[in-house]
This record gives sequence, C-alpha cells and structure tokens, in this order.
Amino acid sequence: MTCVTKNNKYTKTHAPIVEALKKAYENPTYQFHIPGHTKGSGALPEFKQLIGRKALAVDTTDEFDNLGTLHPATGPIKEAQELAAKAFGAKKTFFLLNGSTAGNLALAMGLTKKGQKIITNRNCHRSVLTGMIISGAEPLWLVPERFEDWGIWGNVNPERIEELLKNHNDVSMVWITNPTYEGVVSDIKSISVICKRYNVPLIVDEAHACLWNFNDHLPTSALKLGADAVVHSLHKTGGSMSQSSMLHISENSILDVDAVEKALKLLHTTSPSLMLLASLDAARANLESPRGRKQLQRAILNAKYLRSEIDKMEHIHQLKPDFGYKTDVTKVFIKADGLSGKRLESILEIDFNIEVESASDAGLLLLSNIGNKRSDIQYLVDCLKKIDQTNYSDICYLENKKHMPMLTPIIKMNLREAYYSAKETIPKSQAIGRISAEIIAECPPGIAVLLPGELITESHMPYLTDYEFIEVIK
Ligand SMILES: Cc1ncc(COP(=O)(O)O)c(C=O)c1O
Repeated sequence: MTCVTKNNKYTKTHAPIVEALKKAYENPTYQFHIPGHTKGSGALPEFKQLIGRKALAVDTTDEFDNLGTLHPATGPIKEAQELAAKAFGAKKTFFLLNGSTAGNLALAMGLTKKGQKIITNRNCHRSVLTGMIISGAEPLWLVPERFEDWGIWGNVNPERIEELLKNHNDVSMVWITNPTYEGVVSDIKSISVICKRYNVPLIVDEAHACLWNFNDHLPTSALKLGADAVVHSLHKTGGSMSQSSMLHISENSILDVDAVEKALKLLHTTSPSLMLLASLDAARANLESPRGRKQLQRAILNAKYLRSEIDKMEHIHQLKPDFGYKTDVTKVFIKADGLSGKRLESILEIDFNIEVESASDAGLLLLSNIGNKRSDIQYLVDCLKKIDQTNYSDICYLENKKHMPMLTPIIKMNLREAYYSAKETIPKSQAIGRISAEIIAECPPGIAVLLPGELITESHMPYLTDYEFIEVIK
C-alpha cells in the first residue's frame, strides 16, 4: 500500500491482513462455509445498505481464503502481530478480540493461581477483577490518591507498593492501571524498579494509552519503563474498530508467555472476525505512517488549543498536572462552577449536540482524538464559552446520586469464594450490613462500587440509586 503525504512524498505502508483481505475480496470463491450471510447475500437489505455492501463481503473468519489463523497465529495474522510488536516496542504482541478485557482475563488466568496475591489499584477496570474471580487470585488493594476537588482517583504511590511487597511473600504480580481514565499518570519507572527488586512481574493496563509510543509529547509507555506486559485498547484511541485491542509482552519480560497464549486461546472466540483483526493491522500501519503521525500531532495541538481556551474561561476549569503528577494532554477533564459533571454533560448533549467520553459527579472527560478536525474543537470551544457565560442551574445535586466510586472497601470474604457462594436478592433498602455477592462496576469507567465479599454500608447508597435490588451472600 502506498501512502501519499501532503508534500507528495510516497511511503510504503505494509498491512498484511488488510492486503490479504483485499485479495480475498477481489478473488471471490463459491462459499459453502460460515458466516452464513455469504458475503451479505443473506443479510437484511436495510442493514447491508447501512453498513455498505463491502463490509459484509469482507466479513469472514480465519482459516478461509489464505487469511491465516489467530490461534496459533499463522499467515498474515502472524505477520501483522509481529509488525505490531515492532511498532509498539514489544517482544510479542497478541491481537485481542473482546477488547483489553480479553487481555486482562488471559493475564490473570494464565499467570495467577488460587490464593496468590495481586497488588492492584482499587480503580482498576472490572476485567481485572473478573480475571481474579476466574483464577482465584486475591487483590491486595492499593488505594491511590484521591483528587477530592475533582472527584476522581489520582496516581498510585510506589512506596505503598514496596510496603505491600515487603509484607507479603505470596504476591504473583503487581498490576497497575496507567493512566487513569482521566489521564493521570503514575510513576511506572519507580514501580518497575521496585518490582524488579522483589522479582515480581509488573503488568500495566494501558488501555487508554496506545498512542504514547507514537509521539514524544505524550508520556512514556510502560513497555519502555520496565513493565512485563501491557494491554492497549486500540479501539479506544488508536483508530481500530470497537472491541479490538492488543496485549504486548515486553522484551525482557519474566512472564510465562506460553501460559498467557494458552489462556487467550481458551478465552477467545473460535471464529475471530477478520474485519476486526484487519482494523488492528490498519490502525498500527496508520499510526506508524506519516499520515497517522500527523493525525496524532493534530490531536495534541487540538488538545493544547482547547486547554488554552478553557484557561481563559471564568467558570469552567480543567485538570492540570500541577500537583506533581503527569497527565496525557489529549484527555481533558473539565468541571464547571455550580454544575455537576452529569449536568454539564446533558447541557452539551441537549443544547449543543455534543457527546463527551464520560461524565461523573464533579466533571466530565473530553478526548481530543486522531480523528477530530480543528473545526470540531472550535465548535466545542464556542459551546463551552457559551456555557461559561450562561447561568445554568444544577438539578443533579438534588438527586444525591454519585457516579465515580471513590470508596475504600471493607473486605469480609474472599472474592472468588463470595462470587460462587449461595446468594439471595434483596431490596436495596435492606442491604446495609450485608455482604455483596455481585460486581457492581458500571461502565464507564468500570471501576468497582462493590465487589463480591465486601460489606455494604451507607456510603454505597448514593452510587446505587439505579438499583432496586442487590445480590448478597445468603
Ligand atoms: C483501564 C481499563 N482497562 C481495561 C478496559 C477494558 O477495555 P475494553 O473495553 O477494550 O475491553 C477498560 C475499559 O474501559 C479500562 O478503562
């Protein structure tokens, strides 16, 4: 494939799955195999019209048309994974379907056993928790800093990790979410030095940071800072299709890669979508290309422009790296005086037709993406200026409803044991004092309010306003 840059320079972009899929499309066969819609002929015409004829014509699974296989990786899929490993600076890369969730599940299932401890931050994604339920490993919670004024979690403290490692000799790994959903960055370098001192592997859930390796103005990826494995949701910010992600194993990893691969094979579908795999291949090729680099540079410049305009506003404020931590500039967390994040979100949505990444109690998150044009950002700035100068009221404060879980858990039972215990469903009004039997971690951000085995207290109630009933241990 040839990529033309603005000054008419030609560069080669190699994307093996994309190329193999194109070849298969151009050389159709008589098809007596899955998927049964057979290149779209068996699909609802309205659906076909909506997504385009070609989308269904290339919707196929591995093994057919010389497209290779995912487990084990062969053919173009193997080559694409190798190219991705090179691009992200890894020893080995696995393409993931079912998102970074699949990567997290495989890491837990492949690398940890019942009763082992995992040091992880309380604001980890629920897939990390599900992984622990599958394997039987138990969390040793790191409670990160709380940025109370912003209603969000902050960075984790490396010294606290060292303390836990000193006091527990059965830790199978340290597993850190970096950055947080809102872009707050922890000191992964120091954490990795500590982990190496204790010979414990470090996993970094970089679901929100797959772009970091492609621009020096972004923080450094954990793959370069000594982590053993990293997950990236390419579909979140890297330009691939929804639910496609990558799991990278670093050059000097001490992990049992074979065990991770075996777990992935068990967890993955046996009919991987070639379109999703091709979109991962394409996203990697794009990010490496001059075009992709320009898109990323534009996203960073757009974010800087947005931030400079917010700085001029009177009632709208942005989270800045001014307490000694770093942030990812493309993730802009804002709050407005007198408005909850949820109310600000609904003003943007209803009055201005703008959808944001997520909103919580104090503020909301805006992403400056590689696909955003400058005119998108200008429209957003103009709308924020209007809001800044208008006297909106906030009804959400009256609802006593909270969205960003910021609680310290009271653990009464082991996670897996509680998950598989006899349960009963009771009205929420009777739940205080009982032990939770379910994971309550709504997305976004997928951070736990309650986990199986945790005591339900009064402080959980504002987060459970949408629940009428709760599952508790019998
Ligand atoms: C920190 C973190 N890890 C993992 C995931 C799961 O990612 P995916 O949606 O790609 O499965 C998310 C999703 O929001 C996340 O925020």
